[in-house]
Amino acid sequence: MAVASAHLAPPLWRQLQAAARLGHGVRQGRSLTAQLPGVEAGLRPGVQALAFHALRWLGLAEALRGRLVARTPAPRPDALLCTALSLLAADGPPLYAPFTLVDQAVEAAKRDAATRAGAPLVNACLRRFLREREVLLAAVQDDPVARWNHPRWWIERLRADHPDTWAEILEAAQHPAPMVLRVYKQKCPPTQYQKALEAIDIEASLVGESGVALHRPVPVGDLPSFAAGQVSVQSAAAQLAAPLLLRGLDVEAPRILDACAAPGGKTAHLLELSPRARVTALEIDPQRAPRIAENLARLGLHAEVRVADAADPAAWWGGEHYHAILLDAPCSASGIVRRHPDVRWLRRPTDIAQLAARQDALLNALWPLLAPGGRLLYCTCSVFRAEGDERVQAFVARHSDAAWRPSPGHLWPALGGGGPGLGDNGGCDDGFFYALLEKRLV
Ligand SMILES: C[S@@+](CC[C@H](N)C(=O)[O-])C[C@H]1O[C@@H](n2cnc3c(N)ncnc32)[C@H](O)[C@@H]1O
Repeated sequence: MAVASAHLAPPLWRQLQAAARLGHGVRQGRSLTAQLPGVEAGLRPGVQALAFHALRWLGLAEALRGRLVARTPAPRPDALLCTALSLLAADGPPLYAPFTLVDQAVEAAKRDAATRAGAPLVNACLRRFLREREVLLAAVQDDPVARWNHPRWWIERLRADHPDTWAEILEAAQHPAPMVLRVYKQKCPPTQYQKALEAIDIEASLVGESGVALHRPVPVGDLPSFAAGQVSVQSAAAQLAAPLLLRGLDVEAPRILDACAAPGGKTAHLLELSPRARVTALEIDPQRAPRIAENLARLGLHAEVRVADAADPAAWWGGEHYHAILLDAPCSASGIVRRHPDVRWLRRPTDIAQLAARQDALLNALWPLLAPGGRLLYCTCSVFRAEGDERVQAFVARHSDAAWRPSPGHLWPALGGGGPGLGDNGGCDDGFFYALLEKRLV
């Protein structure tokens, strides 16, 4: 059986070709999420793993390529060269024997018309890297982009925003985040679910109020009672949202608005914790909106789902005030780079101010929809203060009826501590920002 599957495994050169194509696409501004469905199904898992690795080490690979050639090669051979360099130069045990990798990278170059002319260059650069590895690595060690594998502007912003933890955040980004499940507690206590996992040899640790962090990711189809709605996949950081919004909300059947809801992870958690709540889930993107109802249906939950722009309530709001509003605002996603290693290369420094303006517009538009005494939870999966506490400071300065209640603030992605790949002392699996605002009674 093992022999048969080894026989069927696609050759490495094909995987390298496909991973390099994805890397080229990211450089042109296309996300991996958009590109991956276009990869042949049989190649996809291996190619995704290679592309994730290459993007995690792209800063180092590009700096080394800069030492190996006087002029940047044409884009497609360069993407292949940098993919191979990322595999040869990354910290940790090599994923492939170096000479096999070089041989397969050259094969990949030769077998594609878009890279064929660059095959001798790919060959020469990779072989020189193997010969001069230590000297070349030493030559780039003072380059922050090579050291941290993030764009320079990102590193500088992070250092300014988080003088004590910026290095820890960047280091964590090099390691995949754990797969974390949210257990639907009314259906099954998390400890019982952990035992059900152990019974089928899936090791897991309890995390937070309802979370179970797997020590190794598995396909959701392998999870006990997934189809029956006992669990959902949701990061530990994201699992904080619903309890933060609902704790202390003393209303039996609250009206809740989930303003930016797709794919509905937090909508579902709100309903799991507050079964009598009447939840409206808004989503601006008509392609993403159906996923909310799909996810809720699997869990046996229901919300009113509407495709609408939360920043334009005149177009959709009926006039009934909400007791609670969740604003999980569109953001840079700089907190979830462990799960999406392309994000760091896709963002531009100018994006942050544009996103901050959208976040202000959403906060301003939704605040009047909140009943006096009600609360709004503002959150983003960003590590940048411009999308976190700076937004909320500016908001409370503009709104005298807004009280900033005790809330976690900035959580950062960190390793170790509170479970596999989960930090402690404020560290978490992903970076997130949470601020709970309460509307004062006048
Ligand atoms: C961070 S994601 C939300 C994740 C979701 N809360 C969950 O936990 O599954 C932000 C979502 O907001 C949507 N969005 C962005 N701007 C919006 C707007 N003005 N009105 C409504 N939805 C918006 C995006 O399309 C995206 O699906």
